[in-house]
Amino acid sequence: MNAQIPKHIAITMDGNGRWGKARGLSRSEGHFAGVKAMEKVIDACISLRVEALTLYAFSTENWSRPLDEVNYLMSLPIKFFHEKLPQFMKRNIRIRTSGNLKKVPFPTRVAIEKAVKRTRNNDGMVVNFAFNYGGRDDIVQAIKAVVREKDVSGSQDITEMDIEKHLYTNGLPSPDLMIRTGGEQRISNFLLWQAAEAELYFTDVYFPDFDETDLKEAVCCWQKQRGYVSIYEKSM
Ligand code: IPE
Ligand code: IPE
Ligand code: MG
Repeated sequence: MNAQIPKHIAITMDGNGRWGKARGLSRSEGHFAGVKAMEKVIDACISLRVEALTLYAFSTENWSRPLDEVNYLMSLPIKFFHEKLPQFMKRNIRIRTSGNLKKVPFPTRVAIEKAVKRTRNNDGMVVNFAFNYGGRDDIVQAIKAVVREKDVSGSQDITEMDIEKHLYTNGLPSPDLMIRTGGEQRISNFLLWQAAEAELYFTDVYFPDFDETDLKEAVCCWQKQRGYVSIYEKSM
């Protein structure tokens, strides 16, 4: 029997700023190190044969940060996709995005949309970037889409399935395991609807230090909680 692996892992990549501060570096350097950690987490999830990985990269609340920091965070996807897209193609990764990209600066939006478009026929692991994502915004935009689609002025009910179909994560399995690094035990408006059945895992590790071993520990914890065989009982 193979060890069960979560189909969909979602990560709140928190603690970049504190990681920088702890090393006498800037918050931006922390975010840069966070991107490097993200690349390794993607690789680790491919090795584990996870189907989908959602990475919380920028929340609807993050606009309230200092302008310099927001600008830096907006520049990261441009650099990231420019550098990584060939590898994503090679590794058969499909990029998706969850969040309102209309409000994102044009060059950032173009870079993200290009990655989505270029990888859309890949059928390997899905890497879903939650960018300008808010769980409340997700639900509101889904309800608006349902209202547009259906005649809800009459007695017709809106079902959970209708809403599900229009969430930004439409088509992805529900997250089985949600990890938050950085020591805070908060939801921070992440996947509010989708989290209904998820196992929550919190770790003090700052995201730039989060590596394959930490990921496996989280998966192992999920396996124990669900009564599955642990990955540590299998050679990976
Ligand atoms: C998470 O790290 C990254 C983003 C929110 C973009 P933080 O920037 O929140 O780092 P801390 O929590 O201040 O350490
Ligand atoms: C959550 O982290 C958002 C992302 C990681 C993108 P934050 O640092 O923004 O959340 P709060 O401010 O602690 O709630
Ligand atoms: Mg934070």
